[in-house]
Amino acid sequence: MKVYIETYGCQMNVADSELVMSILGKEQHTAAASIDEADVIIFNTCSVRQHAEDRVLGRISAEMTRKRQKPHMKIGVIGCMAQRLGDKLHQMNKGIDFVVGVDQYQQLPAIIYGLEQKEDFVTATAVNHNETYNNLYPVHTGDFNAFVTIMRGCNNFCSYCIVPYTRGRERSRPVEEILQEVREVGEKGFRDVTLLGQNVNSYHYRDVDFPELLRRVNEISSIRRIRFVTSHPKDLSDNLISTMASCEKVCEHAHIAMQSGDNAILKRMNRGYTFEHFLDIAAKLRKAMPGFALTTDIIAGFPGETEEQFMATYHAMEAIEFDYAFTFKYSPRTGTKAAAFTDQVPEAVRLERLQRLIELQQDITLRKYQEQTGTIKEIYVEKVSKKSDKEVAGKSRDFKITVFPGTSDLIGKFVKVRIVDAVGWTLKGEMIEVVDG
Ligand code: 5AD
Ligand code: SF4
Repeated sequence: MKVYIETYGCQMNVADSELVMSILGKEQHTAAASIDEADVIIFNTCSVRQHAEDRVLGRISAEMTRKRQKPHMKIGVIGCMAQRLGDKLHQMNKGIDFVVGVDQYQQLPAIIYGLEQKEDFVTATAVNHNETYNNLYPVHTGDFNAFVTIMRGCNNFCSYCIVPYTRGRERSRPVEEILQEVREVGEKGFRDVTLLGQNVNSYHYRDVDFPELLRRVNEISSIRRIRFVTSHPKDLSDNLISTMASCEKVCEHAHIAMQSGDNAILKRMNRGYTFEHFLDIAAKLRKAMPGFALTTDIIAGFPGETEEQFMATYHAMEAIEFDYAFTFKYSPRTGTKAAAFTDQVPEAVRLERLQRLIELQQDITLRKYQEQTGTIKEIYVEKVSKKSDKEVAGKSRDFKITVFPGTSDLIGKFVKVRIVDAVGWTLKGEMIEVVDG
């Protein structure tokens, strides 16, 4: 069967879709080149905000027309929404053939086979706190960057977040498995690896913690760049910071979710740190690694957030000057603690606060990008620029898209570039020399 996976949500889902393709590939299923060719369409879904769920439900409904024309085609839902809603998804849309939760992906071949034989709806959403999908090497679909999952699940129970309920408890993959996968992707030509987990700094396998894992990945010669997402501020230790600084392949960039700049809100969010702690780690990271880029997530309109508390977040963003911030309007998730708080902020206020944060960050990002003018960066060239075939585009170590005059033979190479301008959220540069290719 030809399988097409449509992926929503975080990078964990992108990695899981690659894992699912590898599980299905073992049973002779292949990836469909486009959705038009698919015998099976799988939606890998996200439950973090209601908007994400609504979008997928809309997409699934839209695909029912195709199903009517192609009656043998199967439609499945996997990921957080499958875990959260299970059978209910089938009640919402009878055209869905299977719903498979995040710990049951190994069953997918059998489920698809069963559906081919008889036409019943199947659901598999049992939680398995031990499932780490060992001995499975995902089909890495990126061109140059490979995502490698190092841990799954989350124990933090931030009061707004559905993830601990959909993805279950933290579990780390064996260190040798991870190193083997990194070696393998390196040999296949991916020079840039991103270690993935809901909270990577909680990684722990036998006597190996996250800094030690970083040191070991840093020794793999085929890899040139190492990134990781996501880090929790409460677990970001001095040891991790000094390890990042001493491992030359670890890039000068971290994504660390601040969520709010107000201590009372952080407490109600159950985040386990104060704003002062966050400021402290931001300062330490920037001191340890010159040119360090910091990106974050922020929630506007968390229950009980007053205008004053909102302004604390606003001022925090002004003070810290993130290179980029993903800003979200609080979305109540049934079953989480915060959804039951009685002081929900009206939707219009949440939206208006979000808008102010977006505008603020746009200015900061543009300013920070313009400040890069005159600096020299190493760019990993990924593609010919969308706007001109005389230009190529790639990313810097500090995770900034950079475009400069060049031809397609530079793709896959590391090039030293002088930054001459910033347009929107893109740096413009001119090539100095190829450094590695
Ligand atoms: N409402 C809004 N944003 C949320 N996030 C997680 N849960 C919610 C929610 N209920 C955001 C957080 C997290 C990011 C992945 O999504 O900022 O870091
Ligand atoms: Fe959700 Fe908090 Fe866990 Fe992140 S750390 S996945 S925000 S509960």
